[in-house]
Parts: sequence; C-alpha cells; structure tokens
Amino acid sequence: MTILVTGGAGFIGSNFIIDWIEQINEPVINLDLLTYAGNPDNLASLKKNPSHIFVKGDIGDSSLIKQLLTKHKPRAIINFAAESHVDRSIHDPEDFIQTNILGSFRLLEATRDYWKKLDHEHQINFRFLQVSTDEVYGSLETAEPPFAETNPYKPNSPYSASKASSDHLVRSYFHTYGLPVLITNCSNNYGPYQFPEKLIPLVIHNALAAKDLPIYGDGQQIRDWLYVGDHCSAIRRVLEAGKPGEAYNIGGLNEKTNLDIVHTLCDILQTKAPPSNQSSYRSLIAYVKDRAGHDRRYAINASKIETELNWRPIETFDTGIEKTVQWYLDNQGWVNNITSGDYRNWIDRQYT
Ligand code: NAD
Ligand code: TYD
Repeated sequence: MTILVTGGAGFIGSNFIIDWIEQINEPVINLDLLTYAGNPDNLASLKKNPSHIFVKGDIGDSSLIKQLLTKHKPRAIINFAAESHVDRSIHDPEDFIQTNILGSFRLLEATRDYWKKLDHEHQINFRFLQVSTDEVYGSLETAEPPFAETNPYKPNSPYSASKASSDHLVRSYFHTYGLPVLITNCSNNYGPYQFPEKLIPLVIHNALAAKDLPIYGDGQQIRDWLYVGDHCSAIRRVLEAGKPGEAYNIGGLNEKTNLDIVHTLCDILQTKAPPSNQSSYRSLIAYVKDRAGHDRRYAINASKIETELNWRPIETFDTGIEKTVQWYLDNQGWVNNITSGDYRNWIDRQYT
C-alpha cells in the first residue's frame, strides 16, 4: 500500500515522512511544489530509499493529481501543502488563497473522482487527512478556556482565513459526498527543519549571527508549543483510528509567552554556544513594531484526542527545545543553504 503526502519537503511534512518511513515503512509519494519553504535537503537521508518517491508539482494541478492517483492508488492522502507564514500572508495574501483554498479544492475534487471509482472496501478504508491549525479558532483572552473542537471558526489573518476556508471545504466533502476525511488542528510546532522565518529558528539563527532578536509588540502573546515529532505521532494516530468526518485538536500542553520563549533560547545558547565577545544573547532582544491584527493567545484543549484516541505528547517543552537548539547548532550548513537570496529579501522587507 501507499500514501500520498503533499508539502512533504516543508518543515512538518519532511519530519512526518522521515518518521513514517522509519516507523511504518509504507511507501510515500511526496508531492511538493518546492516554494521558498520547500527544501529537498530535508529529505537527504532518504535519497536512496525506494519507499520515498518525490514528485515536484502543485496540489492545484488537477491533471497531475489525477495521474498520480491513478498510477499509485494511495490508501490515504495527507495534505500538508500550504503557504504557512502569517507575516507573509499580511504582505501578500494572494498565494495563500491560491494554494490553501484553490489548491486544496482541486486536490479534493481529484480525490473525490478517484475515491468514487474505488471498490467498496477501499472506499471505506480510504482517508483524506487535512493538516490544519489552531489559528482558525481566532484569538483567546487570558482567562478564556483553551480551544475545543466545538469552538466556532473565527480566523483573523489572511493565513488563518485561508486555512479555515479549506477546512470548511474538506468538511463539506464528508457531509455532501461521504469522502472519509479527517481534520487535525494543531498548535505552533517547533523542531528540526523549520524555516528560519518562524520565531524559534529565526531567534536561534539571529542570535548565532549576533543580530537583533525581534519581539513584536510587548512580547506577551501566548502560543502553545508542540514538538514536531509529537505532532507527527498524533497525525499517524488520527489516520489510524480517527473517525471520518471528525476534527481533532493537537496541542503540546505548553503555553508560553513569546518573551519566555526568546529568553529560554538565549539561555540555552549561552550555555551551549557562548558568544565569543563574552556578551549575553539576551542583550540582542529588540522590541519592534507589532504584527497587524496580532492574535493575543492560542491554547489547545486536547482532551478529545487523549480520551478517544489515547494520544498524548511525549516531549516536555524543556526536552523538545533543548533537542531543537542542539539540532540547529549541529546543522548550521542546512541553515546557511537556505538563508541566502530570497530569505534575505524577506528579512529586509519584514524587519527594516
Ligand atoms: P512549510 O511552509 O514549512 O511547508 C509547506 C510546504 O508546502 C513546502 O514544502 C512548500 O514547498 C509546499 N507547498 C506550498 N504550496 C504548494 C502547492 N501549491 N503545491 C504543493 N506543495 C506546496 O509549512 P509547515 O510549517 O511544514 O506546515 C505544514 C502544514 O501544517 C500547513 O498546512 C500549515 O498550515 C500547518 N500548520 C503548521 C503549523 C506550524 O507551526 N508550522 C501549525 C499548525 C498548522
Ligand atoms: P510565528 O512563528 O510566525 O508563528 P504564528 O504567527 O503562526 O504563531 O510567530 C510566533 C509568535 O512569535 C507570534 O506571536 C509572532 C511572534 N514573533 C515575534 O515576536 N517576532 C518575530 O520575528 C516572529 C517571526 C514572530
């Protein structure tokens, strides 16, 4: 049997494929457009592994999807492909509409066509898993309870609105056509291979280069941090045992302010890679203009996946962040390869 993973050259998708092949060893077709965020180097360890088949292409390319589905007959599709960075969605929403909404729609249409021609048993066992975000639920006040699956969608950024839109389409394909779909809404991920436009890798990268560590606004915004390996194990569990038509929240049980995150990173780096000039990484912290429409707090109530599917994260924040910093220290070549050209243009545009 085979699965089709989209966006598998990005941060979470590549972690997912590496773990999947190590633990399940079922062949994976990896369809990825290789945008600025997609990096084949993430999968260098699988170069000679016949279980990983890479195809460069767009989830919005209906004829390519049709061809891949007919040829490889996957038993499941896991849709990671997306434009994923909130700040980019504020500058240029168009790509988000194109991939996250239109791309997901075309992928769903091709999947529906493929699925309806399967025999009954294969139809029942087929799954389309949409990887989504907690940001679709909007923003929480300090005293509000964490997001449950029953919360209404109230997205605030073009990114979260585009993800909400695709989630609604996915849900409607279950309700209208009976396509066996699953939706997962996870919190902020961190770990190896994350593109250094997102807070944690950006801060590690800037600190090591003795550059400012930009904190938007007052730095008191809260995110619930989930180690990427735990996210991947949760997706495998939902794929295996989730009920079609249902959504599952996935959280790391780690609510932290951005300032806490940056302090923790500075302190770990101070021990692992002390700056040569005896200064302190914390002295690089620089408060910058706040993000437009910045969501104050995200937090996940993950009791559904825990009670119904018996899943919990393994990493604590302390263990996960230590591993992550160590990975970036050990893989500075990986970071250097992607922080040229386009990346510099983005940093100039966003931070100057
Ligand atoms: P990422 O930006 O690192 O990777 C996205 C991947 O999708 C890249 O490899 C890119 O080349 C590919 N891609 C983009 N447009 C495509 C298209 N039209 N066709 C095919 N491939 C395309 O993102 P990520 O952080 O790995 O996120 C993966 C998924 O998880 C996304 O759907 C995102 O919304 C969701 N998510 C991420 C987080 C997080 O903290 N990173 C949290 C919640 C949900
Ligand atoms: P980010 O990693 O972009 O994830 P998201 O916006 O999807 O939550 O940002 C995490 C938090 O860190 C968010 O509140 C914005 C903040 N942030 C900064 O303060 N400075 C930065 O340079 C970046 C990239 C993010």
